[in-house]
Amino acid sequence: MIRRLCATVSQKASRLCPRVSLTMKPQVVFVLGGPGAGKGTQCSKIVEHYNYTHLSAGDLLREEQARQGSECGQLIANYIKEGKIVPVHITIQLLWKAMQQTMEKDEKMFHFLIDGFPRNEDNLQGWNSTMDEKALVKFVLFFDCDSEVCIGRCLERGKSSGRTDDNRESLEKRIKTYLMSTRPIVELYEKLGKVRSVDASRSVEEVFTDVKAIFDKEG
Ligand code: ADP
Ligand code: C5P
Ligand code: MG
Repeated sequence: MIRRLCATVSQKASRLCPRVSLTMKPQVVFVLGGPGAGKGTQCSKIVEHYNYTHLSAGDLLREEQARQGSECGQLIANYIKEGKIVPVHITIQLLWKAMQQTMEKDEKMFHFLIDGFPRNEDNLQGWNSTMDEKALVKFVLFFDCDSEVCIGRCLERGKSSGRTDDNRESLEKRIKTYLMSTRPIVELYEKLGKVRSVDASRSVEEVFTDVKAIFDKEG
């Protein structure tokens, strides 16, 4: 009875009674930027310094694509190669499952970096209709990087990544998707005062200095 009661008390109560074990509402930072802007690289560094779990929507989709018996494996493969955005119900299901698994293992791990999401209107609508109640979006970390720099980095990564989309043809499509579909989402969050922007065209360490300043302040 007491356990059940504790599990449902609000986060506010946790500050009053910190020793009681609570199920916390997941706190989310969306991480956006062009392909190759350095989202994954910077997320790994954030995880080293702060109590966050990194969930890359792209990585989860690639995993699902490779999973034996996956019903949507072929669909995901086609979308990725074409640089298109997979229907949101697939992506949200993977993200929510990964969030739940993380919190089931350790209830203190309720801070998430959701990398590469929401990438278009469909992603955003899907999140708002199914996740708005379940999780709190703290801010959007935006890695601002010139398209040419992004393409150069992805082509370099393509020498060893084995990714089907790190080639010039796919990259042109991915950049187009980014400019047409993802940038408007960033702009939308900007209007809400939720975007924390970093110049991502500099070295990994220089970028991370700015990222650290953001997380020290509000992470
Ligand atoms: P994203 O997840 O945004 O696609 P990654 O973090 O995978 O980007 O980085 C893309 C490629 O660029 C990787 O090969 C990575 O090592 C490299 N990279 C990342 N950040 C930088 C940077 N600041 N300067 C130069 N190369 C970088
Ligand atoms: O973020 P990443 O570069 O790993 O994403 C690779 C691809 O995965 C995207 O180009 C897109 O095809 C797919 N993806 C998606 N929806 C997301 C994130 C990634 O369809 N929210
Ligand atoms: Mg990535």
